[in-house]
Amino acid sequence: MTEHDFIPKPYTITKQTGKVSWESPSNIALVKYWGKKKDQIPENPSISFTLNNCKTITTLSYTPKENNTDYSFEVFLDGDKKDDFKPKIETFFERIEAYLPFLRQFHFKIETHNTFPHSSGIASSASGMSALALCLMSVEKDLSTALDVTKEYFNTKASFLARLGSGSACRSIEGDLIVWGNTESIVGSTDLYGVKYPYAVHDNFKQYQDTILLVDKGEKQVSSTVGHNLMHGHPFAQNRFNQAHENMAKIKSILASGNLKAFIALMESEALTLHAMMMTSMPYFILMKPNTLEIINKIWAYRKKSGLHIGFTLDAGANVHVLYPKNESGEILEFIQHELVAYCKNGEYICDEIGFGANQLDF
Ligand code: PMV
Repeated sequence: MTEHDFIPKPYTITKQTGKVSWESPSNIALVKYWGKKKDQIPENPSISFTLNNCKTITTLSYTPKENNTDYSFEVFLDGDKKDDFKPKIETFFERIEAYLPFLRQFHFKIETHNTFPHSSGIASSASGMSALALCLMSVEKDLSTALDVTKEYFNTKASFLARLGSGSACRSIEGDLIVWGNTESIVGSTDLYGVKYPYAVHDNFKQYQDTILLVDKGEKQVSSTVGHNLMHGHPFAQNRFNQAHENMAKIKSILASGNLKAFIALMESEALTLHAMMMTSMPYFILMKPNTLEIINKIWAYRKKSGLHIGFTLDAGANVHVLYPKNESGEILEFIQHELVAYCKNGEYICDEIGFGANQLDF
């Protein structure tokens, strides 16, 4: 599909009042997206596990308004009005208006809640923007004849819209493995939206576990928007983008064979490469903290000693995602609790696992 396919036909149903609600998960990239072009088009392909427990629940109430001049909306997080969220949503509305021409016709009340602490350093933009995109798609559906909106179109357009809010959000609509970014080795992959990974996946990856160690819960010193932009003119950028394409091809055979050793090597190399790109940007920056490195070294020592398939990945922050197969979770969780939790801020961590995407909620 192209951008043009997401411009709707004139709506058939007149304006009405309504309320819709969606829960949408976060996701964790295995091959990382870092660097973007205009309109949130990624410089390289990425693939992620959709998570199950870390999610945003958003309820969108809409009422028709008299004039269609400005956007009109208010945002609440856990019942508290959040005017500081408004500029990001306003930018999102501007980017998606061509595809959702009803945005100026309603007043929206956006009520949102995260299942993880807002200040945990876990990116709420993927779950938050995907939940909002799904709510807006439900409004579009309410204004359209049912036949115009198939489930596939609904999910694809929701992913397309979510991408315009926050790139990685386009990988949160469905599960359990999602690819975003056009790459030769994955049929159907596109820069415009996330697609379900289309090939066989070995049982080793079913119910894969992700324990998120909250090392630093403060605001990031450098936002991911700034980080992405620093890839423009970065001396290693082109090599990195090529490497991501190669890693997408490699992960395909790893996912098919169930080779956990190779999986861990690729995932950890991706995480460290992401941070190496940050450290070699100009200006350079470091998002890892001393405890991030302590945890990584402990994981490596324990893996060597135990022979278990424990590995890590990192997002654009100091927290560590510890990934491991379900059938090794007893011993590994014990190790995490005894050896790693001490490095977390206030001993906080979140147990999550691979999930299957967003759900609409009833009232
Ligand atoms: O979606 P953004 O702009 O917050 O970028 C997220 C980038 C990483 O989390 C670092 C990697 C990824 O692919 O999710």
